Amino acid sequence: MNIITTVEALRAQIAAWRKKGETIAFVPTMGNLHNGHLKLVDVAKSRADRVVVSIFVNPMQFGKNEDLDKYPRTLEDDCAGLTEHHADAVFTPTPQLMYPRGLDVQTYVEVPLLGDLHCGASRAGHFRGVSTIVCKLFNLVQPDIACFGMKDYQQLAIIRQMVIDLSMPIEIIGVPTERAADGLALSSRNGYLTAEQRATAPKLYQLLQQLKQQIEAGNHDYRALELQTKAQLTAAGFEPDYVNISHQHSLALATSAQEPKVILAAARLGSTRLIDNLEL
Ligand code: PAF
Repeated sequence: MNIITTVEALRAQIAAWRKKGETIAFVPTMGNLHNGHLKLVDVAKSRADRVVVSIFVNPMQFGKNEDLDKYPRTLEDDCAGLTEHHADAVFTPTPQLMYPRGLDVQTYVEVPLLGDLHCGASRAGHFRGVSTIVCKLFNLVQPDIACFGMKDYQQLAIIRQMVIDLSMPIEIIGVPTERAADGLALSSRNGYLTAEQRATAPKLYQLLQQLKQQIEAGNHDYRALELQTKAQLTAAGFEPDYVNISHQHSLALATSAQEPKVILAAARLGSTRLIDNLEL
């Protein structure tokens, strides 16, 4: 696997593959790779001749009091996993390379409406940081397809919208969430949980499943159901941020029984923020 740290080397590698007529799939990550990321690589590999993975802990998507400094950086292990899963190249830029003029004066990409809801409401600037870095990486890698995990459901919707709005010729593929045996969605942030919190964490997914069953059984009082699930999360030891029953595409709060729905949720266990979702 080619480990690439400069824009010039990345462009040269992409150009060499393109010259041979090869297709390119891209998997953007922030590293500390788990089986969820490696599944994205497998899907990418099954869909294109070459797979490029980026590992970049993107400062632009972290709020001032968030975990940028303590976010786990495990490059050696990540490269071993990527080699095992047959990635062709990993791009590991520095913040200086991606934002040479500094974050305050960086041109940005923002997807309105979708970026303001749910996590966007409680993490100001987060999705601006995500769409900006993904746009930059797309411009560098120029992939045919790009794979994103469905655990970050709102992020996936935002990237799909950005690609449409900015006429980027990239197919976006959503890959189902990988879960631990007890149902907890895999996430790099799970590593922050204490043993006690880790034992509580699967309750989030269990409560979403119960909520889904209630809706499918014909309860359409969505706002009351959201409040009920938040209360159940609190009783289980979480500090819920939101539980929203939403339209699958606009992500606006669902109001009718007919529309395609997704339950989106975020809750803290101690200082660790967990997110999960369930399509109906
Ligand atoms: O999902 C992530 O890990 C990040 O938000 C992404 C897409 C790599 C952008 O930094």
